[in-house]
Amino acid sequence: MRLAAIGTGKLGSAILRGWVTSGQLLPAELTLPGRFSGVALAAELGARVMPTNRETVVGAEVLLLAVKPYQLVSVLTEVREALTPECLIISVAAGVPTSTLEAVLSEGQPVLRVLPNTPAQISASASALCRGKSATDSHVATVSRLFSALGLCLEVAESQMDAVVGVAASGVAFVYLFLEALTDGGVRMGLPRPAARQLAAQTLIGAGRMALETGQHPMELKDAVTTPAGTTMAGIAVLESAAFRGIVMEAVRAATERSAELAT
Ligand SMILES: NC(=O)c1ccc[n+]([C@@H]2O[C@H](COP(=O)([O-])OP(=O)(O)OC[C@H]3O[C@@H](n4cnc5c(N)ncnc54)[C@H](OP(=O)(O)O)[C@@H]3O)[C@@H](O)[C@H]2O)c1
Repeated sequence: MRLAAIGTGKLGSAILRGWVTSGQLLPAELTLPGRFSGVALAAELGARVMPTNRETVVGAEVLLLAVKPYQLVSVLTEVREALTPECLIISVAAGVPTSTLEAVLSEGQPVLRVLPNTPAQISASASALCRGKSATDSHVATVSRLFSALGLCLEVAESQMDAVVGVAASGVAFVYLFLEALTDGGVRMGLPRPAARQLAAQTLIGAGRMALETGQHPMELKDAVTTPAGTTMAGIAVLESAAFRGIVMEAVRAATERSAELAT
């Protein structure tokens, strides 16, 4: 699969490193533009470099766009005439709808949007994709395969992408807040900070993996560690007295609504 990528900053380089190291993409199949970050990444991965964005996309079957949202339309406008009509366009720019990209491109050019979250940097992303009007099941399968190599990747309707921001993109920061609080709780009760932080972080990883790998409802998993009059129930009662679940749901709502506001 001949793949061109424009945007080799934090996210673009993490995605490309993940694809090459997982074997999804051969270095010889990858072309990058000759900007500073592109040249450095190409040298690291063994990819080809072309002097301009236009030359970078010539002959590409897939184009990954990982520039900032405000740069996306000008980059697409620059390269559109050099694209083959079949080239699949993947944009990871937050908040830019597929219709904005389609308006710049030729009729029928397939477009897909993917929203990874920051753990993409360690190939542990929770990503959602949505398809533009000309993307087929086969395009979705290609992109799902690529992004599943960086963690989890699910297809959602484009109207649900703001909710993905609330749960996964902003959600990562909500989890960091919880991680900090769990750590501080341990320190307050006498644990050394490094031990408290490691135990808290591994507890989040373990709980997440249990939910994904067993497929069990969180309530069942919680019940399994909650003995009558025990320690866990004592803690849960405190969380619930502060409407813990309600406040988390409100945070997801606020982030979702803000994402929709920023896109207009
Ligand atoms: N960071 C994340 O975890 C994350 C998560 C979800 C979505 N996103 C989305 O991913 C996109 C990239 O974010 P980022 O954090 O990776 O940004 P970034 O580190 O600033 O990277 C942007 C890249 O775009 C390149 N670029 C800018 N203008 C260009 C042009 N005209 N032609 C070719 N390349 C150009 C920059 O090259 P130079 O450095 O050479 O200028 C840089 O490599 C954004 O749209 C963001 O919404 C990021």
